[in-house]
Amino acid sequence: MSELSVDHLLGIKYLKPEDIDLIFKTADHFKEVINRPIKKVPSLRDITIANLFFENSTRTRLSFELAEKRLSADVINFSSASSSVKKGETLIDTVNNILAMKVDMVVMRHPNPGAGIFLSKHVDASIVNAGDGTHEHPTQALLDSYSIRERLGEVKGKKIVIVGDIMHSRVALSNIFALKLQGAEVKVCGPKTLIPKHIESLGVKVETNLIKALEWCDVANMLRVQNERMEISYFPSTREYTQQFGLNKKILDSLNKEIVVMHPGPINRGVEITSDVADSNQAIILDQVQNGVAIRMAVIYLLASKINR
Ligand code: NCD
Repeated sequence: MSELSVDHLLGIKYLKPEDIDLIFKTADHFKEVINRPIKKVPSLRDITIANLFFENSTRTRLSFELAEKRLSADVINFSSASSSVKKGETLIDTVNNILAMKVDMVVMRHPNPGAGIFLSKHVDASIVNAGDGTHEHPTQALLDSYSIRERLGEVKGKKIVIVGDIMHSRVALSNIFALKLQGAEVKVCGPKTLIPKHIESLGVKVETNLIKALEWCDVANMLRVQNERMEISYFPSTREYTQQFGLNKKILDSLNKEIVVMHPGPINRGVEITSDVADSNQAIILDQVQNGVAIRMAVIYLLASKINR
């Protein structure tokens, strides 16, 4: 396959295994590019990309912007805190006004699940979902799988446990889709109240005992509790959460094998993961960040090649 089966990256749910292979192969090339002394290619000199962030972000926004600049695209940035959205403008109006300035692609983070899907039906630009509420975060899942592939050779057949707030995490859902698509075995682990009732229908197993989950897995992806998405408490206290679901060095060293530890960031040190684990050789957290740029370059490059200009 030489081109993606989709015109937008709205979620992993819409991808085929061959799309993921193509994105990874393209990212391999860009990873080599960003390690050169001159980290830039002229590929997208004629493309303009708008980064629209209606929700807070550090890593993802910087990573997209860097990826776009490394491809020589023109980039404009917008965050809702300083925009007319606060004056009551609709999402479609905001985006159409931006597109009137001849923008080819929109990278959007939005608090509402499905915002990117909605937009893709109403505006004439390629849409990349950079996180839509509790729904999907496809580039994060791609960079996570890419980082597993880099460390363990392949994703197929590997055992991955996703630990934490599965219910409110778009990283969890996109990872489940991506890992299953590539033939990995997936378990989720966390307080019962933070695990959606019918999660098994996605082909994953539930394990509420962290030690058992860790003894089973090759890779543990430790997620942050999404406090900003909760109106009520889902567990008695942060201290108790950490006691039951926090990963520390003592637990890591007690396992009968060396597992790989991941985290999408931002980390709450001392809550879901202790500093000594986050900073250990078993953690690939900074590799994930580095791979994020190559993965986003690949996604943008492949989508741009489908735009009719
Ligand atoms: C994640 C997100 O925003 O969904 N962060 C990220 O993009 N690296 C995870 C989180 O906020 O916990």
